[in-house]
Amino acid sequence: MKTTRREFGKVALGSALGAISGKALIGSKAQAQTRAAHASGVYHDGVMQLNQNESARGPGPKTMEAIHNHTTKRVGMGYSPDHVNELRDGIANYYGIGTENVLLATGSTPILRGTVRAFCNESQAFVTPMPTYSTSLQEANRINIPSVELSLDKGLGVDLESLARNADGAGLLYVCNPNNPSGTVHGPDTIEKFVRRVMRDNPEVRIHIDEAYINYTRPGAMETALPLAMEFENVFITRSFSKAHGLAGMRIGYALGQEQTLNKIDQAWGMGDVNMLAAVAALTALEDKEHIAWEAQENAEIRDEVIGFFRERGYEVPDSNTNHIFVNLGMPASKFRAACLEHNILVGRDFPPLEQTHCRISLGSREQMKEAIEVFKKALA
Ligand SMILES: Cc1ncc(COP(=O)(O)O)c(C=O)c1O
Repeated sequence: MKTTRREFGKVALGSALGAISGKALIGSKAQAQTRAAHASGVYHDGVMQLNQNESARGPGPKTMEAIHNHTTKRVGMGYSPDHVNELRDGIANYYGIGTENVLLATGSTPILRGTVRAFCNESQAFVTPMPTYSTSLQEANRINIPSVELSLDKGLGVDLESLARNADGAGLLYVCNPNNPSGTVHGPDTIEKFVRRVMRDNPEVRIHIDEAYINYTRPGAMETALPLAMEFENVFITRSFSKAHGLAGMRIGYALGQEQTLNKIDQAWGMGDVNMLAAVAALTALEDKEHIAWEAQENAEIRDEVIGFFRERGYEVPDSNTNHIFVNLGMPASKFRAACLEHNILVGRDFPPLEQTHCRISLGSREQMKEAIEVFKKALA
């Protein structure tokens, strides 16, 4: 396993926590170095995975310890639903809401599927920006729900104005904030204005705000829309433990909102049975604010370096608030992908309608991105 030599001082990070709470401090130098030593990145069959937006660093030491401690014949392997209930309670406490306002699922994916089934039908369309995270759109296509796909704005942000204009008669509006793949984000005032406008003009429409990447946002760039979800029955948010918490393989995510709304989603599609170890891991990871602050800071520094590399060479990259960047390479993503794959690096899939020009690159560890940049130079040559 490789080690980074970088040292981290105490860095205040506000919104990077993505929680309602305020600032957190990165811990001691020794702790940071221990974490960095485990930041080896994700590889499958020797191929560097810069395509899935997983944390290159994985879960924090406390989370790993909790998983080890619970891997016993009785607790981790048997039926012990208490841990799942504890997680639901823990999430509710963390946000200061009721347990009825939390819907758990095996990853946020089943929730995304359920939302389309619950709130759309042949005459109430699914409305989405494009490109964005596409599980909900795929679900709509799979069950023949009509959809409306709207372009991003000039800066590759989600065009909220155009979403609001298409709310008439729609079933569900999907807003990925920050947006995958473009990494762009809308601040709290803009989101609030949008939500209030839609709820005033089209009160029957549902709004889904997907906050999977909230922990990676730049300080001050956004706040959770949870207060709006608690105020409006037709607004809800989703979160995932697959990104900054590093638990993608554990399959755990959740929705927050009003009870009636969450019940409709739950009834529309199976949320799966969250497993005990995933519940233990997720609760530990949620409460380990210090680790999330470190993860966000590490990602932010790597992100600045990689964005800098492309911008210095004249490529446009929107400011990213995620653990991936979306670069205008001026060539098909497939061509760049093939060139990188020759050097055992896999970058992101096509994101229509921008697949002829833009490529999404997930951010790996420091060592990985150093190596990747050398490969990018060759692929761009
Ligand atoms: C914006 C967004 N939402 C949801 C998900 C689904 O994540 P999971 O099902 O692992 O929670 C992803 C995964 O990449 C994502 O990018």
